[in-house]
Amino acid sequence: EFSPEEAQFNDLIAEDSRIEPRDWMPDAYRKTLIRQISQHAHSEIIGMQPESNWISRAPSLKRKAILIAKVQDEAGHGLYLYSAAQTLGISREEMTDQLLEGKAKYSSIFNYTTPTWADMGSIGWLVDGAAIANQVPLCRASYGPYGRAMVRICKEESFHQRQGFEILLELMQGTEEQRRMAQESVNRWYWPALMMFGPPDDESPNSTQSMAWKIKRFSNDELRQRFVGMLVPQAEVLGVTLPDPNLKWNEEKQAYDMSEIDWDEFHEVIAGRGPANAERMRRRREAHENGAWVREAAAAYARKQAA
Ligand code: 3HC
Repeated sequence: EFSPEEAQFNDLIAEDSRIEPRDWMPDAYRKTLIRQISQHAHSEIIGMQPESNWISRAPSLKRKAILIAKVQDEAGHGLYLYSAAQTLGISREEMTDQLLEGKAKYSSIFNYTTPTWADMGSIGWLVDGAAIANQVPLCRASYGPYGRAMVRICKEESFHQRQGFEILLELMQGTEEQRRMAQESVNRWYWPALMMFGPPDDESPNSTQSMAWKIKRFSNDELRQRFVGMLVPQAEVLGVTLPDPNLKWNEEKQAYDMSEIDWDEFHEVIAGRGPANAERMRRRREAHENGAWVREAAAAYARKQAA
C-alpha cells in the first residue's frame, strides 16, 4: 500500500506531470537524478577541453570566434545542470569533489584527443548531434528543473551541430588533403559518438527504472538508431563515408543494421583507460586549484556582507 505522498508522486508521473524540488519523491528517484544530472554537468565541463585545444589555432578569426562561443556555451550548460542537481540537495562542492576524486563519471566521448582541425567539425556534427538526439527527449524528463534546463541547452546544441556540419562541408569542398583530413576525423569520432548513448539496452542497469519514472523517454539503443538514421542522409550531403561497412537499411526493421560496437573499448574508456582520461582529470584538478583563491575571496566577501 502507498503512503499518500507516494500515491501522489505516482499520480504525477502517471499523468506526465512534473516533479518539482519541494515535492515528495522516493529517495531512489532523487538519487538517480543526482547521479545523472551531476554526471551530465561534469561532461559539459570536461567537454570544453578537447575543443579548447583549437581556440588558439583556429584557421580564421570567424572560426575562432565561433569556437570560443561554443566552448562558453558548454561551460554555461555545466553551470545550468549543476544548479538543477543542487535543487535535489547536493552541493556544488560535493559534486566537484566526486568528479576530482574519480567517484563520478563523465561522458566517455571527451576522453578522445583532437589532433586535427577537422575534429572540431566531427565533434560538432557527431558529438553535439548525438547530444541533441539524447537531450531532446530529456526536455520532457519528469523532474522539472532538469527538463526545463534541457530546453535552453538543446537550442544552443543545434547551433553547435550546425557549425560542426559546416566545418566538415567546407573541408569536403576543399583540397584533396582537406577532404582526407575530414574523412579521417569522421572515422575516428563515429564509433565513440555512438557509445555516448550508453550500453546496449540489455546491459543498461538504470534504464528500466529511469523509463518507469519518465526520466529516460527512449532506450539507449532506440536513440542510437534514431541518431544513425539522421546521420546517413547528412553524410551523403557532406560526401563523407560513415566507417561501418555493414551499415544497411533494414526495411523490415525500419532501422539500420550496423556492425557490433566495440564495448570493450567503451568499458576501458569508462574505467579511466581512454586516450586522454589522465590529461582531462589533470587539467580539471589544476583549474580547480588555480580557482581556489577566487572561491575564498567570494566566501570572505559574502561573510562581510552577512556580518
Ligand atoms: N560515458 C560514461 N558513462 C556512461 C556512458 C558514457 N557514454 N553511457 C553510460 N554510462 C554509464 C552510466 O552513467 C551508468 O553508470 P552509473 O550508474 O555509475 O551512472 C552505466 O554506464 C550504465 O549505463 P545506463 O544506460 O544504465 O545509465 P543511464 O540510464 O544513466 O543512461 C545516459 C546513460 C544515456 C548517458 C544517461 O545518463 C543520460 O541520458 N545522461 C544525460 C545526457 C548526458 O549525460 N550526455 C553526456 C554527453 S555530454 C553532452 O552531451 C554535452 C554536449 O555539449 C556534447
